[in-house]
Amino acid sequence: MSFPRQIQTARLVLRDPRPADAPAVFAFASDPAVLRHLGWRPHADEADSARHIGHELHRWLKGSAWSWVLAWREGPQAGQVIGQIELQPQSHPAAEAHHLRLGYLLARAHWGQGLMGEAVAAVLDAALAQPAVWRVDALCDLDNAASARLLSRLGWQAEGVMRRAIVHPQVSDVPRDVSVWARVKG
Ligand SMILES: CC(C)(COP(=O)(O)OP(=O)(O)OC[C@H]1O[C@@H](n2cnc3c(N)ncnc32)[C@H](O)[C@@H]1OP(=O)(O)O)[C@@H](O)C(=O)NCCC(=O)NCCS
Repeated sequence: MSFPRQIQTARLVLRDPRPADAPAVFAFASDPAVLRHLGWRPHADEADSARHIGHELHRWLKGSAWSWVLAWREGPQAGQVIGQIELQPQSHPAAEAHHLRLGYLLARAHWGQGLMGEAVAAVLDAALAQPAVWRVDALCDLDNAASARLLSRLGWQAEGVMRRAIVHPQVSDVPRDVSVWARVKG
């Protein structure tokens, strides 16, 4: 599996995370509102974010997951890192996985402008362009209306509910029900 390290959308550049991104990553990865419907624990400091970036780079080099940071392409905020999007293989071997899972998060100040829709569409195209890949899915907490709306608007199919599937520690330690959204080939 070979993904482009940089992907451009109308307003964003999706690129490799770099050590210098730690303060920008910390800004959204320490925000409990951003993490509310994710399995992440909030980063305590920029060192946590630097470790996270190192982990992402390691996974990319190993070919065990693929992630990009989102940065504005142009304008007064050009280059500013505002989010992350990733693909994780759900079948083995990772390098030939037919099934990938998408995850994404965006700094709160940038919600509601359709930005993540651009990133999701571009990463889905890159995923389905891989000959090995037949399925990309995403799991949304049933209370995560914005994420479900985004996927629905982009034409993802709702496949149903997986019950008690994922712990979202900002909500509770009890596993939660999630909706399953997918795009498949053919
Ligand atoms: C989910 C998330 C990525 C959406 O990104 P975004 O760039 O703000 O998405 P959009 O601007 O396309 O907005 C999503 C849609 O949900 C709608 N929406 C936003 N908040 C909503 C809410 N509380 N209830 C219902 N709909 C909502 C928006 O109006 C928009 O719909 P529209 O296209 O019909 O106008 C962003 O909110 C986020 O990072 N959340 C925290 C992390 C997260 O939950 N990640 C996903 C895990 S599955």
